[in-house]
Amino acid sequence: MRAPVSLVTGARRGIGRGIAWALADSGFDVVVNDVDDDAAAAETVAGIKARGRRAVFLGHDIASIDGHAAFVERAYAEMGALDCLVNNAGVQVAVRGDVLAVTPESFDRLHAVNLRGTFFLTQAVARRMVNEVRTRDDPPRSIVTISSANARMVGPNRGEYCLTKAALAMMNQLFAQRLASADIMCYEIRPGIIRTDMTARAFDSYDALIRDGLTPVRRWGEPEDVATAVSALARRLLPFSTGDAFNIDGGLHMRVL
Ligand code: NAI
Repeated sequence: MRAPVSLVTGARRGIGRGIAWALADSGFDVVVNDVDDDAAAAETVAGIKARGRRAVFLGHDIASIDGHAAFVERAYAEMGALDCLVNNAGVQVAVRGDVLAVTPESFDRLHAVNLRGTFFLTQAVARRMVNEVRTRDDPPRSIVTISSANARMVGPNRGEYCLTKAALAMMNQLFAQRLASADIMCYEIRPGIIRTDMTARAFDSYDALIRDGLTPVRRWGEPEDVATAVSALARRLLPFSTGDAFNIDGGLHMRVL
């Protein structure tokens, strides 16, 4: 079988970088996407190459949906194939606050990246994938979407974020239904509290909550925790599953009486 090729959005740092490196460890070549191209992006690319896999950085703002078709073509042109899309890029609210104070600007910003951009990028990749003629030499195909525990859990001070992540849960199922006949499996991953730049602003409050037992597994999640799950799914280690959501959250999702 030829080496599988993945495209990871928002892979410059954080969970996306962890996913890129875990996929490389599993034999995937990786297209590293991000809106920012900086030293961190170069480090992600270097880490993939150090693992013996091909890597290329493709800058693109996933909110710019007019550029999606050309972006996907560039990925194919660079790597010759695309077997796995990981929808990881996402943004958090700039200011946390009351749902009564959510502004249309913040609502639109979150939806433009987390939902609208992700939906239409998935559509662009899926359109291309369903038209491919596959051979036995080709690896299994998948689309993995990183949503959040907030796809289900209420986050009272970031309502617009929660709305986008809840919608991604439906998006995953819509694509799973549509693409199963083409043998493209779709999965959603719901990370809990993961130690990255995104959560750095709220580090102290989350740290106290974790120590007080918010999560049955009393530790921060690390990007590698999410990445291990993505890698397993992308390698088709759960071959009879599609449309499922996987909690990678140390048990955060369980209600306790
Ligand atoms: P992060 O902020 O450290 O990394 C996100 C990356 O996405 C950044 O490199 C950023 O430049 C990139 N990005 C942002 N907008 C983009 C765009 N329009 N186009 C392309 N790239 C873009 O965040 P982190 O923590 O690594 O999160 C990754 C994903 O995991 C996000 O979707 C986030 O919502 C989700 N998540 C994170 C959790 C956490 O505790 N850190 C928990 C649950 C979900």
